[in-house]
Formats: sequence, C-alpha cells, structure tokens
Amino acid sequence: PRRVRVHHLREAKSAGRQLTMLTAYDGPTARIFDAAGVDMLLVGDSIGDNMLGHATTIPVTVDELVVATRSVARATSRAMVVADLPFGSYEASPAQAHATAVRMLKEAGAHAVKFEGGRRVAPQVELLTGAGIPVVGHLGFTPQSENMLGGKRIQGRGHDAAERLKEDALALQDAGAVAIVLEMIPAPVAAAITEILSVPTIGIGAGPQCDGQVLVWTDMAGMGDWSPRFSRRFGEVGKALHDAAASFVSEVQSGAFPTAEHSYDS
Ligand code: KIV
Ligand code: NA
Repeated sequence: PRRVRVHHLREAKSAGRQLTMLTAYDGPTARIFDAAGVDMLLVGDSIGDNMLGHATTIPVTVDELVVATRSVARATSRAMVVADLPFGSYEASPAQAHATAVRMLKEAGAHAVKFEGGRRVAPQVELLTGAGIPVVGHLGFTPQSENMLGGKRIQGRGHDAAERLKEDALALQDAGAVAIVLEMIPAPVAAAITEILSVPTIGIGAGPQCDGQVLVWTDMAGMGDWSPRFSRRFGEVGKALHDAAASFVSEVQSGAFPTAEHSYDS
C-alpha cells in the first residue's frame, strides 16, 4: 500500500475524510495497526507512563524514543510514523529541536516529529519545516507541562483561553505544521480551531468535529483496567492476553503442552 504522506493529510481534510492515529511503541503492535489501516502511528512520549513504568512523560529520553521509533518504523509499510520529541529535547532553541528531530529521521526512520506548545515553539516548527522535517503540533493539555498547568486539566475553557489556543494554532500552521493534535479542550473550541485551519486537527478528548482522532493504543484496545473518559475500549486485549498466558501456565503444569507434534525426533 502507498505510504501516507503529508499531502494526504490536507487532501483528507478537504475531502472530509477522517484521519486516524494511534500510538505505537514497538514493532508487533505497529504491524497490526498498519495492517488495520491506521493512517498515522505516533511513537508518543506516553511510552513513559504506558510502557516504561513512569508516572508521567517527563522522564522519557530521546534514546528511548529512538529505539521505539526504529522498531515501529521498520514494522510499517503504509502508516506515517510520527515520533514525539520528549521533554527537554526541543524547547531551548530551534537548533536543539533540529538536532533531536534529525535523530528521529536518520537513526529511527520517522517520517515526521511532534512536539508540544504554540507560539513559543513556532521558531522550532519553522526551522524544521525548512530543513525538510514535517512537524505535527500539539496544543491544549500538553502533558510535558503538567507541572505548570497544575495537573491533567481541560484547557481552553472561557473566551480568553479559547482565543489564545486559536492564536497558537494559527502560529503553528503559519510556521509550517502539517497537522495539529488538540488534547482535552472543549468540543466547540476544537471545532472552531478546526474551522479556521487549513491543516488537519487530530483530537483526543476534543470532540467529534476535529479532522481526525488519536488514542493511546492501550486505552483503545482495553489493555489495562482503566481507560480515560475521552477514550473508548474497542477491544478487551488485556483480558485476551491474560487468558492466553493463563492457558499456557495451566497446560504446561498439567502436561497438556508440549506434545509429540511440538517435539523433534532424534
Ligand atoms: O504521547 C502521546 O501519546 C500523545 C498523544 C496523546 C497525542 O502525545
Ligand atoms: Na506525547
């Protein structure tokens, strides 16, 4: 299948075709999501709280995301692979962002990078775009700033906050962003931002009127016990995996596995 590229994102928006994005952190899951037709795979810094045992995304390192991105990129043939730039790897300057993003493309095989923030990171978006690196923006609740934002809270409530979000979105678009993730903002605010932008918005907890939707795959698949309110459990993969492992344990213990058909003759 043809690789999803940046011009397909704008085409999808013009055609009113919803874009789909899931996180992926390793090859086996990425291969499954790619075959299922997911347009974009995000190697998110949510690997920190979903896979690596951290409480937040803050401790995630560039090296960790390079390894994860490499395994995802090698397993896909259609999806656009987007690598997050982790906390501390892009905020200080456009040059810092460029150095990190180059690693994601050269060492890991990403097709685009994503990082958090509005006007404050527009210079980063502009430099990377000029250097041939597609950038996805990320506005609203931005987990890397949770220490400033006072925890996991809805952003953009009230007229002034909504206006600031719009200006941030326009600044990212003007700087060259190819798409913008909107996280945990009121649905009407996300709809208004989607309306004024020519590049697609991809929502998570941002209502149905975005140009696409993204979910953390473990929430989407029902991998853990809990999924956030804005997510839906499209499967019960955690239970399926538990049952498979429990069957393995009981069949080994009972002697039902392995049998002659799983064994080699001398
Ligand atoms: O890291 C992540 O999973 C994300 C999505 C929530 C957009 O940034
Ligand atoms: Na992220």
